[in-house]
Amino acid sequence: MTAGRSTSRRKLRLRLLDVEIAEVRPERTGGFRREHAREAASTLWGFTVIPQEQRHEFAAIEGDEVRGVLAVRISASLAHVESLVVATEYRRRGIGRRLLARAEEIANYYNCHKVTLEVPAVGPARGFFEACGYKTEAVLPQHTFKKDVAVLRKFLL
Ligand SMILES: CC(C)(COP(=O)(O)OP(=O)(O)OC[C@H]1O[C@@H](n2cnc3c(N)ncnc32)[C@H](O)[C@@H]1OP(=O)(O)O)[C@@H](O)C(=O)NCCC(=O)NCCS
Repeated sequence: MTAGRSTSRRKLRLRLLDVEIAEVRPERTGGFRREHAREAASTLWGFTVIPQEQRHEFAAIEGDEVRGVLAVRISASLAHVESLVVATEYRRRGIGRRLLARAEEIANYYNCHKVTLEVPAVGPARGFFEACGYKTEAVLPQHTFKKDVAVLRKFLL
């Protein structure tokens, strides 16, 4: 039984191709990605996927000055907050909460069911997001900069 299975596995494998692995510029891979994205995503997830990704940036503006910024990436019905920064002297005045609410609004508009982000497991950012209704989904041990990282999420639907 075991021998038979390993024989069929050997049969499935095609001859190794002698390719060169090279570091290239993004322009060199873009066309290939576009050409193969749909088939690759559908094979990966097991159903027809039309890959789409968009990024939105928001700023909190007072007069002509930017006091805070947020970037959110939307793809596969998930929204991921990539960064959120409020200028030091303008913190604890509601800017972070309003930027995050705007990101959730656009995520909702594009039918995302969930917003996620990652923060250090220990530190003030986690308290901010918890105050905004985010829950801990997982803690990744020794992750970014070898620190434990909390994956936070809020369900929108
Ligand atoms: C985290 C950050 C974006 C919060 O922005 P902010 O404008 O100060 O937040 P808000 O004033 O909207 O705070 C909303 C609530 O979150 C909580 N909160 C905010 N900062 C907090 C902190 N340092 N510790 C614990 N809770 C905090 C509070 O409950 C606050 O309400 P309150 O002020 O009425 O008590 C800001 O501190 C920052 O830019 N930090 C550095 C970068 C960072 O950590 N980004 C987040 C990860 S991407």
